[in-house]
Amino acid sequence: MKKIDLDGLTMNVIDQGKGKPILFVHGFPLDHRMWREQRASFSAEYRVIIPDLRGFGESDVTSGTVSMAKFADDLDKMLAKLHVVEPVVYCGLSMGGYIAWEFVRRHPERLEALIVCNSKALPDSEDTRQTRHHSAVELRNNGTDNVVFAMMPKMFGMTTREKNPGLVEEFRQIMLDSNPEGMAAAQLGMADRIDATTLLADIKIPTLMIAGEEDIISPVMEMREIANAMPHGHFAEIPGVGHLSPLENPVAVNDAIRKFIEQL
Ligand code: MLT
Repeated sequence: MKKIDLDGLTMNVIDQGKGKPILFVHGFPLDHRMWREQRASFSAEYRVIIPDLRGFGESDVTSGTVSMAKFADDLDKMLAKLHVVEPVVYCGLSMGGYIAWEFVRRHPERLEALIVCNSKALPDSEDTRQTRHHSAVELRNNGTDNVVFAMMPKMFGMTTREKNPGLVEEFRQIMLDSNPEGMAAAQLGMADRIDATTLLADIKIPTLMIAGEEDIISPVMEMREIANAMPHGHFAEIPGVGHLSPLENPVAVNDAIRKFIEQL
């Protein structure tokens, strides 16, 4: 673990291994631990960089709203502090995918390829936006309990909930232990995110979309449409997993990632 100073904000980051850098960006409300199976599998051959985003894990928390652009700029500064000069393979899940679109807009020179797991390109509907605003108030007033309770049924697929309750419980606890202010600030940032569908045709780098068969937050069809809208879009569907595919079926997800990176 490294602690990096980003203009007064301390960011926690794993930087392990040598070779082509792969940047893994976690979803909401998680931290570097959601990528543990990818860290174990890829750090022998690649340089694996896994931060805790601002407000999550062991990184500092800032209040207010943290926009997807702000997260993307943090990642750019973090890479500079780690002396990463070559373009990276960016791999983000869900909110990590929303941040990916901003990273493409703001720091394209840093990218060799993109992997987006269980995410969306569309902005929130008005209903979802309102729910996020209520959730931010709830988090600030009462902590994480109710918000995590509402999210849990959507995070893991039915198969994982039946076959691997230990994993579900472990990550429920990680979500409950997240910082409520960090979560609230990211919720408001997600609510404000802009439409990325208009960007897709201009993404010229190879991009792999990884969908979960049982994911009800980011349905397979929507993920396939994103891949189809990109000139170099690839698509993989992981059977028997929900929204947290890299944890639910790491073998299949790692195979898809490895195959994609080896073709670059
Ligand atoms: C995530 O996994 O990052 C969240 O489901 C994203 C969201 O709330 O839209």
